[in-house]
Amino acid sequence: MEIQFTQSRPQSARLVAQVTDKGKVPVGLDKTMTEGMEAARFKGNTGQVFDGFVDRDGQVFRLAIAGAGDAKDDARLANLEKAGAALTAKYQSIGNDELVLDLSDSNLSGEEAASVLFGLRLRNWRYDIYRTKMKDDQKVTLAKVIVVGAPEGTQAAWEDMAHVATGVEFTRELITEPANILYPETFVERCQQRFEGTGAELIVLDEAQMEKLGMGSLLGVGLGSDRESRILAIRWNGGAGDEAPTALVGKGVTFDSGGISIKPGPGMEDMKWDMGGAGAVAGAMLALVGRKAKANVVGVVGLVENMPDGKAQRPGDVVTSMSGQTIEVLNTDAEGRLVLADALHWTQEEFQPARIIDFATLTGAMIIALGNEFAGVFSNDDKLAKDLHDAGEITGDRNWRMPIDRAYDKLINSPIADMKNIGGRAAGSITAAQFLQRFISDDTPWAHVDVAGMVWSDKPGRTWNKGATGYGVRLVDRFVRDTLEK
Ligand code: BES
Ligand code: MN
Ligand code: ZN
Repeated sequence: MEIQFTQSRPQSARLVAQVTDKGKVPVGLDKTMTEGMEAARFKGNTGQVFDGFVDRDGQVFRLAIAGAGDAKDDARLANLEKAGAALTAKYQSIGNDELVLDLSDSNLSGEEAASVLFGLRLRNWRYDIYRTKMKDDQKVTLAKVIVVGAPEGTQAAWEDMAHVATGVEFTRELITEPANILYPETFVERCQQRFEGTGAELIVLDEAQMEKLGMGSLLGVGLGSDRESRILAIRWNGGAGDEAPTALVGKGVTFDSGGISIKPGPGMEDMKWDMGGAGAVAGAMLALVGRKAKANVVGVVGLVENMPDGKAQRPGDVVTSMSGQTIEVLNTDAEGRLVLADALHWTQEEFQPARIIDFATLTGAMIIALGNEFAGVFSNDDKLAKDLHDAGEITGDRNWRMPIDRAYDKLINSPIADMKNIGGRAAGSITAAQFLQRFISDDTPWAHVDVAGMVWSDKPGRTWNKGATGYGVRLVDRFVRDTLEK
């Protein structure tokens, strides 16, 4: 979606939108509009939209008024995003390719105005490339927003935020692609295309290299698949030369059938988005690189497909991870932790990060615990957990801290190896986190974010339609701004 800035309303405008606060009717509004708003009980509540046709100097156009709620609301920026998103939700397919956003009479700051644009753009994203028979009235027509009378600072704020939107959109694209199109090698290729010429350094490990490094845990998951596994690191050094990087690590299971411990059929298609953690890491890196963040960050994704096959690993197999620790694989469907074990260990060896944040659609139990409102955060560091929580509250990528503790760690001891890859039914998300912690060196601040309930949505939300949400990109971007760039 293209966004342009101009001083006055173009003659061609057929769809014009204004944003208003709760209880405030824009000045000089036509009587048909004010009466209509009254009749429709339009109050300017967040996300409410009212429209009518007006005649201004012989030019007739549709005028939409979007509510942004109370101007003094703590969630002001989020509300303005919602106002923008409500506009695209309503007008993206009605035949207009342009929407004129008239902010001339608004009292918004530049940052606030940019938030409206952020909502407009994020909510407009759709992925229709495989729909060849869409009717014209289903297709997205809205392609351009022309901002009139933008408050001072809007353009500068937007230039920065647009990179974050690009990151969110990239994450959604990766998550939406089906598993026959997006598998480890093509995930890597798509990143190579997107990061070309950005100044980021990409490092790819193939199976032979991983074999040499002793990554028996990650490689074991891919044994049943015809697709080769990969590790991809995306490195951005925008900070001080001597500063240790912050590492983001993502679970990238491009399809999770469960393997020999195969999942039930209904809903299995959802497991194309079992690379949602890796998708978030790639999109977050694209946002940081795009806006040239003044921080050293490396994103590492472990890319594997989990399939049943004559060559697949079996329940009961024992694998040796790169760290040297051995794992009894009691359930081949608890594969994410096996992938992360080696990805986390390699990340520490290779980059000596100052802190690690991993993102993974790790457990169904996470959805049972927190539903689709909060991701679960498991951390050995209070400050890191708090910083992530704060970033989540500001951006809407919300997260809630969960416990880790030695008492849970015991539940994954194995009689035959150093650990087993499942605990019991109880505390499933916690035992998964305990497993990961065994691959983190004690003095490295680490947070594991279980995003199983967050990356995909069955219904439209704040700034997304049904489908991929882009969770994690804004969280990382805000975390980097507020704790690394300061
Ligand atoms: N990818 C799944 C977790 C998942 C399930 C994410 C549903 C999103 C929606 C993960 O690999 C898995 O299968 N976990 C098992 C672990 C169990 C075997 C210990 C689970 O949650 O059932
Ligand atoms: Mn699984
Ligand atoms: Zn999985």
